[in-house]
Amino acid sequence: MSDTRHFLTLLDFSPAELDQLIKRAIELKRAHRDGKDQRAFPGKVLAMIFAKSSTRTRVSFEAGMAQLGGHAMFLSPQDTQLGRGEPIEDSARVISSMVDIVMIRTFGHDIVQRFAACSSVPVINGLTDDYHPCQLLADIQTWVEHRGSIAGKSVCWVGDGNNMCQSYINAARQFDFELRIACPAGFEPDARLVAANAGRVRIEHDPLLAAEGADLVVTDVWASMGQEKEQLKRAKLFARYQVNAELMSRAAGDALYMHCLPAHRGEEISAELMDAPGTVIWDEAENRLHAQKALMETLLLANA
Ligand code: CP
Ligand code: NVA
Repeated sequence: MSDTRHFLTLLDFSPAELDQLIKRAIELKRAHRDGKDQRAFPGKVLAMIFAKSSTRTRVSFEAGMAQLGGHAMFLSPQDTQLGRGEPIEDSARVISSMVDIVMIRTFGHDIVQRFAACSSVPVINGLTDDYHPCQLLADIQTWVEHRGSIAGKSVCWVGDGNNMCQSYINAARQFDFELRIACPAGFEPDARLVAANAGRVRIEHDPLLAAEGADLVVTDVWASMGQEKEQLKRAKLFARYQVNAELMSRAAGDALYMHCLPAHRGEEISAELMDAPGTVIWDEAENRLHAQKALMETLLLANA
């Protein structure tokens, strides 16, 4: 079990492996569009455990596994023994004895770590309270497709210091870019993570200053899944942190903006930007499919 490879954060892969994965995602996307048969993994089974809601993650993993010739199985705590208190470790031992790869979306990051520690097959983090690494694969793929390498670029995160923001900190390290984080006081990402990446990550509470000259501006909802009760309070505190035309006018002339979706128009992003004809946000969403096919292929081959 100890040599089984997992993808719990971007740090589980080396920068070279991540670059290769993005290249492969772009190749798989082209082949898929060309109608090529991609069923390289017949009979392989992906178990998808969802303790939180999802549209993109579920559809992209399920469609992706079908396109690779395998099968995807949806499991929710409501109708498995996971929701009735069966230990994560026992569940991991049993589920991994029957399937070839597992994806988990849940609350505490320790849950995916504990599952992976007892799993005989690769485990993919499909979002925890702390990280959302699959989304970063799609975001970087999108950047590369539109602009080439992201190394040396400056990225501005606007909003909550949440799981997406923390994944951008890891991405800054692995893909070698500079990250400015504009968040309200009290909503910073984990201080240890920021300190460990102090050379390339800076907190700047003023969103317009943070966006100055940025090549890429990224945002996400103000209240993440599990924080629904804080929605109103956060809407007031985050009012200045909207990605809109004014903020983008501070960024580089050809800057892109991204949002992992689902989006709240008029809150963290203006309707004007969401619905702009040139936005790459829809490519970003579609790329979840291609990036995760590359990820599953890599993990399945590594564990063959
Ligand atoms: N971006 C993202 O992970 O979307 P879902 O919550 O719909 O899976
Ligand atoms: N930060 C958001 C991302 C959703 C894809 C959440 O955790 O709800």
